[in-house]
Amino acid sequence: MTDEGSRDRQDRQEKTGVLPWLDARLPVVSAFRREYVEYRTPRNLNGLWNFGAILTVVLLVMLATGIFLAIHYTPTAAGAFASIEAIERQVPSGWLLRSIHVTGASMFLAALYIHLFRGLYYGSYKAPREMLWLTGLVLLAMVMFTAFAGYVLPWGQMSYWGADVAGKAVDAIPGIGPWLEHFLQGGDAPGDVSLHRFFILHMVLAFAVLGVVGVHVAALHVTGSNNPLGIEPKGPRDTVPFHPYYTSKDALGLILFALLFAVVVFFLPNVVFEAENFRPANPLHTPADIEPEWYFLPFYGILQSVPSKFGGLLASVGAILVLFLVPWLDRSPIRSARFRPLYRVGMGVLVVCFILLGFVGRHHAQGGWMIAGRIAVVYYFAHFLVLLPLSARWERGVVLPESIAGGRGV
Ligand code: HEM
Repeated sequence: MTDEGSRDRQDRQEKTGVLPWLDARLPVVSAFRREYVEYRTPRNLNGLWNFGAILTVVLLVMLATGIFLAIHYTPTAAGAFASIEAIERQVPSGWLLRSIHVTGASMFLAALYIHLFRGLYYGSYKAPREMLWLTGLVLLAMVMFTAFAGYVLPWGQMSYWGADVAGKAVDAIPGIGPWLEHFLQGGDAPGDVSLHRFFILHMVLAFAVLGVVGVHVAALHVTGSNNPLGIEPKGPRDTVPFHPYYTSKDALGLILFALLFAVVVFFLPNVVFEAENFRPANPLHTPADIEPEWYFLPFYGILQSVPSKFGGLLASVGAILVLFLVPWLDRSPIRSARFRPLYRVGMGVLVVCFILLGFVGRHHAQGGWMIAGRIAVVYYFAHFLVLLPLSARWERGVVLPESIAGGRGV
């Protein structure tokens, strides 16, 4: 160790108090200072950069409420529905815990989509932030599996038939489909074994998500945040310390989000509950309308717009897989859509198509919805596979601001 290093250590040991004592042995306090309090952040981040913090807090709320729900939940086909009823009616504040958990799922997915489209719009996936993007997509996949497994647990009609439809979709995979369906369900139809598996999967994945968020944020701290201008900070004038600037900004975002959350929990609970799921699962009675939660509807819309069953499955899984290639499909040297006129319009159309596909899913891609769905699917893939690689050619001659402090949009 260098002289300077050993002097530094001695200095720290000589300081009195619990925190310096702890820091000399396990430097968590100095790491917290370096990575959080003093951490330099671009000075021009807008409200869309609040959503990472919002997602982290909602995840913690989901884990905390989930543990208490799990304590009272029975993962068997005979007991699941009744245990949820008991949580609602007999467990003290059980209705509140469940309402927060179920509302949290919807709010989490909404925040996740905003976070993802923010990244796409401002080119946050571009070098050197590829790992940030890829770990984010791993999180997206894990969160989707977790949400799906959780939806099966109350064992209402929609839980049961949702699991059934998902099983049939897996069954469409040539060769291994039937085997995979059997493996996931633990039988020919959803039942006791599937419920057990989904319960374990739901719990394990939820905590694993927390671990991957740690990796995601570690990757963020290697490169630092992107910003609305998409240019790297050039000096101290372009950045501010995270505390107090972004602690206060994140706190404001969190308060507004919590207000919206509370309005849904206390005044509009039925927005996030599906009426059909208040009926216990009945394998002998298929509901007239089987549809997933709103956050899966765009992918359900893709599934239904493609004529072949396996083709639909490929397209809806492909819609996520193609996102993994985005850092390499986009050839433009410019990050932010603010300076990419064509890409900006393309992003608008992409968002419209994604929402439209949600409506297509809700209307089971019938009649005019089928045509709209097909056009939206074609644009979705063309956006990534054609527009991203080629738009750089047509977007020449843009002059970027010299620096963040001197640029527009600060
Ligand atoms: C459990 C879910 C997730 C959590 C808790 C999470 C958390 C965070 C946090 C705290 C930040 C820093 C603050 C911010 O920029 O908003 C961040 C940044 C980022 N996240 Fe996520 N994230 C999640 C999922 C995703 C997903 C699905 C993607 C997209 C594929 C993604 C891509 C990114 C990118 C690209 C950044 C850097 C943005 C920039 O600096 O411009 N994240 N995330």
